[in-house]
Amino acid sequence: MKLGNFIAGLCLSVIALNAAAQQPIIIKFSHVVASDTPKGKAADYFKKLAEARTKGRVKVEVYPNSQLYKDKEELEALQLGSVQMLAPSLAKFGPLGAKEFELFDLPYIFDNYADLHKVTDGPIGKRLMSGLEPRGITGLAYWDNGFKVMTSNRPLRVPADFRGQKMRIQSSKVLDSQFRALGAIPQVMAFSEVYQALQTGVVDGTENTPSNIYTQRMNEVQKYLTLSDHGYIGYAVIVNRKFWDGLPADLRTTLEGAMRDATTYANNIARQENDDALAKIKATGKTEFITLTPEQKADWVKALSKVHREQESRIGRDLIQDVYRATGKTL
Ligand code: LMR
Repeated sequence: MKLGNFIAGLCLSVIALNAAAQQPIIIKFSHVVASDTPKGKAADYFKKLAEARTKGRVKVEVYPNSQLYKDKEELEALQLGSVQMLAPSLAKFGPLGAKEFELFDLPYIFDNYADLHKVTDGPIGKRLMSGLEPRGITGLAYWDNGFKVMTSNRPLRVPADFRGQKMRIQSSKVLDSQFRALGAIPQVMAFSEVYQALQTGVVDGTENTPSNIYTQRMNEVQKYLTLSDHGYIGYAVIVNRKFWDGLPADLRTTLEGAMRDATTYANNIARQENDDALAKIKATGKTEFITLTPEQKADWVKALSKVHREQESRIGRDLIQDVYRATGKTL
């Protein structure tokens, strides 16, 4: 080879190497809800912070609305490394073998966000996240959504009203047991399929947070909404562990900071987003709201408290007791 050619070739290789070095690291962040929800907004906010603070060395691609993967597939994709970041609902960790996360689904275990944060921000929250490590997953943060309402085409006021109702649930055994305790027939279904299932009558009703119901237009196909606040939906932001551990240390630290700030943002907007969604559903005038009387509420609590006992073997009696101690509430 002539010297000139050799030098030209060398220059091209150096240019190619430089280009490779400047390629941003891509974080694919997949989720199943609309962008205009607490989780959707927080994911977009994390992207903004992460890209600005790493000065373009990291690019976060957010895929909302089950665009890339549905509930079950996204967890498999994370373990395979096809996506790097997710924020599944805490009710969806059972299929991963992390059954303890279903403690968040226990009916009436938290009265409000403050009680919930005593768990997510404390040693219990930390312990649950470390349980994910052997499964190749690192837990980065808990993000709030909110408290659930019940919807159906039948008014649901007392436990007996649930008898025979087919209710869509997330993939959680605790939620299955919750609806069985009410005499309903629970049916596990991916979030992306719920609107159509309600519309066509495959299921009669469902439970979710107002922001999820409104942004999926579920309220348009449900005549009644009971303000039950009987349970909670929130998220764990998780990453593929190998990917996370393989990041340059300075980038990881910067991303951890961006995640901290995105978490503060998520947890600051969640309540308002749900209050706003409820007001918007009400404003359509198409869904009748049901407020439980204190006696009706007491009947719900009575019917559902046995779920805590029934699920001790799945979640762990000690863990449930630890939660009671942290919140100061027993059921
Ligand atoms: C659901 O499936 O109902 C929710 O978990 C969706 C979500 O991510 O909020």
